Amino acid sequence: MSFKVAIVGATGNVGREMLNILEERGFPVSEVVALASRRSQGTEVSFGDRTLKVRALDQYDFSDTDICIMSAGGNVSKEWSPKIGKQGCVVIDNSSAFRYDQDVPLIVPEVNPDAISLFTRKNIIANPNCSTAQLVVALKPLHDFATIKRVVVATYQSVSGAGKEGMDELFTQTRAVFVADQVDVKKFTKRIAFNVIPHIDVFLDDGFTKEEWKMVAETKKMLDPKIKLTATCVRVPVFIGHSEAVNIEFEKPITAEEAREILREAPGCQVLDKREDGGYITPLDSAGEDATFISRIREDSTIDNGLSMWIVSDNLRKGAALNAVQIAELLIERGLIQPKKKAA
Ligand SMILES: NC(=O)c1ccc[n+]([C@@H]2O[C@H](COP(=O)([O-])OP(=O)(O)OC[C@H]3O[C@@H](n4cnc5c(N)ncnc54)[C@H](OP(=O)(O)O)[C@@H]3O)[C@@H](O)[C@H]2O)c1
Repeated sequence: MSFKVAIVGATGNVGREMLNILEERGFPVSEVVALASRRSQGTEVSFGDRTLKVRALDQYDFSDTDICIMSAGGNVSKEWSPKIGKQGCVVIDNSSAFRYDQDVPLIVPEVNPDAISLFTRKNIIANPNCSTAQLVVALKPLHDFATIKRVVVATYQSVSGAGKEGMDELFTQTRAVFVADQVDVKKFTKRIAFNVIPHIDVFLDDGFTKEEWKMVAETKKMLDPKIKLTATCVRVPVFIGHSEAVNIEFEKPITAEEAREILREAPGCQVLDKREDGGYITPLDSAGEDATFISRIREDSTIDNGLSMWIVSDNLRKGAALNAVQIAELLIERGLIQPKKKAA
């Protein structure tokens, strides 16, 4: 059994990683179609040792495509995902356009796989925000053991989370600083090279940013609506890999050693926690890896049943492309999708 898969946004950061991951994991494809805007029509992207010619989304007919992985931003998704879903093609969407829709499941396969069955309502499944995805992978097994009451998280998010333009801006500004050239600010709100910016996405009325709000809403939707979460999201001059300093308050007692043991066994998690120089993960180490890494696990004596930890993952993989491909794998494993075209 193999599936015709379309990648919308195939020329982007996430789209390219999507193609790598489909190939690496041997996803059962009969055909892969690379789609982007008309600007990229005719350009080429790699899929394993093959080269795919990019086609324009608005000229493509989805009627014989089984799965569409959307990675072209919220506006494109809002316009296209419902139309594609109506053509009987299951959309797995990376943008925030449908994440909070009650009729669209928001899925991290290690966390809430059973919620996927809801997808038939609109034929759309949402992929969470990159910072939330890695957070809930680590929180889920701890919540099952000791019930989380409250989470305080500060993120250190890489520029690739802001797409190709974000990576280009860090590169260009860094070079400009070294050659004493003029430093232009285009994508971010302040200079990102040799700086950190405490602002991701738009400001909301309560002073939080939309990125911070997303972490709250998505954790509640996927893990438990009773969990209280507060976030500060910060952009840092790192190309790939989001890091998070996380403080968790539990209802029941849990020691650092118990947390370490639980996370060692938990799906998608890798504990790297030696209390010595370099005995922890950094975003650079996480780039290109699938796991959510957890380091610096320690008890917080300032609250009852409190733990602090450091959580890092490759935002283009678990935070986006890998999770989307895992969702597609889950559809197949559970027999929720059949190829439209039977193999000859
Ligand atoms: N980066 C992350 O860590 C991350 C994590 C989770 C979710 N996401 C989400 O994933 C999506 C893509 O992010 P990215 O980082 O890959 O961005 P990106 O590098 O800027 O790439 C954007 C992609 O969208 C395509 N596109 C733009 N307008 C289009 C249109 N009108 N029709 C068809 N294709 C269009 C672009 O094609 P052209 O080359 O033709 O312009 C490009 O392939 C966003 O929704 C983002 O929020 C990203």
